[in-house]
Amino acid sequence: MDKITVIGAGNVGATVANVIAHKDLARELVLVDVKEGLAEGKALDIWQTSSINNFNTRVVGVTNNYLRTKGSGIVVITSGIPRKPGMSRDDLIKTNANIVKEVTEKVIKYSPEAIIIIVSNPLDVMTYCAYLASNKPSNKVFGMAGILDTGRYRAFIAEALNVSPKDILSLSLGGHGDQMVPLPRYTSVNGIPIDELLGKDEIDKIVERTRLGGGELVNLMGTSAWYAPGAAAAQMVEAIVDDQKRIFPCCAMLKGEYGLKDIYMGVPVKLGKNGIETIFELQLNKQEKKLLMESAESVKSVMKVLDDMKLF
Ligand code: LAC
Repeated sequence: MDKITVIGAGNVGATVANVIAHKDLARELVLVDVKEGLAEGKALDIWQTSSINNFNTRVVGVTNNYLRTKGSGIVVITSGIPRKPGMSRDDLIKTNANIVKEVTEKVIKYSPEAIIIIVSNPLDVMTYCAYLASNKPSNKVFGMAGILDTGRYRAFIAEALNVSPKDILSLSLGGHGDQMVPLPRYTSVNGIPIDELLGKDEIDKIVERTRLGGGELVNLMGTSAWYAPGAAAAQMVEAIVDDQKRIFPCCAMLKGEYGLKDIYMGVPVKLGKNGIETIFELQLNKQEKKLLMESAESVKSVMKVLDDMKLF
């Protein structure tokens, strides 16, 4: 791809940029931030690893200069404030909705054809906010959360079983919050159902740790995570750039799937050069459906805060 832009040069944005450059996914990567010099500095630092890490992607940083992002094929938006201990992702909405709306409008002005991937929190509602601000079809505007959430879930399972994390296959549904729905019935170790290898109590504990996985890191570090969120967003970019048709849980607009409409939430999708190419609807059991509806209710309560802000 000719050009990929990452908005926000904080911990997550810089990590996304770094992973994209390492994977050599674009001829040019533009990193943008509002803070004078921050994107320039981080981009220069990443670029100076090119000869060491063997990549060609030219990484450049700019302060608020959206003209420089013109013609991007993919734009990853990470802008906004992160969580502090004691905060939920939803506490960020008032600040981050204004930022995500403004950034999306500027992005679209210069890259009307771009696929937009949202990473800002509260993720599901910020993705919805970008969708409204962009006026683009929803298969081109979606969010990163499910790869991160299942990444945590897979890491915990790999640890519990002392096996390679590469062999853990799994899915997670719902909003990117404490009500998210990791799905043990759709989890296997290279085909071996997880409940043949771990007891119910152990699985329940791992599911709970996954649901609170972001908060665990906020409590440890005083701010939210970046290595796994950055790697997860870059994996989505890679699937699109290489038209891989990979199946990942991503935050997508539902139009009747799972009985839900006009809401962005995590579901399994096929990712390729057109963005979200298919949304998969699973045959959930009663308990799974109940958990998914609880997660949807929690996303809807945050959507209501966005509605009340009357930004659109
Ligand atoms: C997390 C934040 C990025 O889950 O939402 O770590």
